[in-house]
Amino acid sequence: MSYSRKCVLLVNEEFEEKRRNNESIMNARISEIHSKIPKIQAIDKELSQTGVMIMSCALKGREGLEERLSELRARNLELQEKRKSLLLEAGYAPDYTDLKYDCALCQDYGAVNGKMCQCYKSRIIEEQFKLSGISNLVKTQSFDTFSLDYYENKEEMEELVKWSKKYINEFDTKKTSLLFVGGTGMGKTHLSTAIAKSLIEKGYGVIYETAQNIFFDFENDRFIDRFGGAEPEATKYLECDLLIIDDLGAENITPFTVSCLYNIINTRLNKNLPIIASTNFDSKEIRGKYHDRITSRLFSDFGIKIFKGTDIRRQKK
Ligand SMILES: Nc1ncnc2c1ncn2[C@@H]1O[C@H](COP(=O)(O)OP(=O)(O)O)[C@@H](O)[C@H]1O
Ligand SMILES: [Mg+2]
Ligand SMILES: [Zn+2]
Repeated sequence: MSYSRKCVLLVNEEFEEKRRNNESIMNARISEIHSKIPKIQAIDKELSQTGVMIMSCALKGREGLEERLSELRARNLELQEKRKSLLLEAGYAPDYTDLKYDCALCQDYGAVNGKMCQCYKSRIIEEQFKLSGISNLVKTQSFDTFSLDYYENKEEMEELVKWSKKYINEFDTKKTSLLFVGGTGMGKTHLSTAIAKSLIEKGYGVIYETAQNIFFDFENDRFIDRFGGAEPEATKYLECDLLIIDDLGAENITPFTVSCLYNIINTRLNKNLPIIASTNFDSKEIRGKYHDRITSRLFSDFGIKIFKGTDIRRQKK
């Protein structure tokens, strides 16, 4: 899995911020306590000398070193205990001045023993959802809400749902691009959103967008001067683990959008990054709209899934 760079940078920044915050809370509390309880200030001063004391113990030679060190240890413990009871006496929790963590597991570093902490993963997934363009759609369009009742070819659709779930499970190793073909209201967007949701939850970076908006972003990037090297908006369409292009063919087709589409398909397939494209147009209409270079890839490199039936939006009314 490869999280989108944008999300990783953002979440890393956030974790750093968390650590900085908790540290300044701790420092503020220590100052507060020092000014209120001078005895603790004195204890802290002595405790801060511990390192120096160990050094000077060692410099006095090996003889009696163990003894001197264990005396030091005992003194240290005694000071810690004293400190706690002073805090308690003054009405504070004994750990009032300790460094606190939002996540005790990873101490806000996002990883434990080189393994990603769940707290970090959840935040990335949350950001991934925001970036994905399906935050709103997933509220109503998932596998849970995908019903077979609206289809006459129930068995076929049941197969497709099963197949889609297998697609998700095997996504690690099998990167198949898909073309969903069928009339309006047949559940193409619904099923692609359901797939996107499951893959994002598994930790993949998925971007959903209509063809029209994707080309718009590419077009926009051409006209924006990027001072400071900000990343073009459209880079995400070339780099995410899965790109969902909705309503392909509904865009206003120009030489620019055609070359853009070719670039997207070519770049992604060469990098083994799949695409799920949906279209309301049949293969003949698609061939009429796009260049051979595009249609030959669409019809040979994409698995075609046909959606049939009566507009579900209307059935629901
Ligand atoms: N199998 C289904 N079960 C329940 N609702 C569905 C199903 N398929 C589609 N819908 C709903 O019908 C509406 C149209 O579906 P949509 O996926 O947008 O169709 P398409 O993309 O094929 O035009 C949406 O509100 C969607 O949630
Ligand atoms: Mg649709
Ligand atoms: Zn954590």
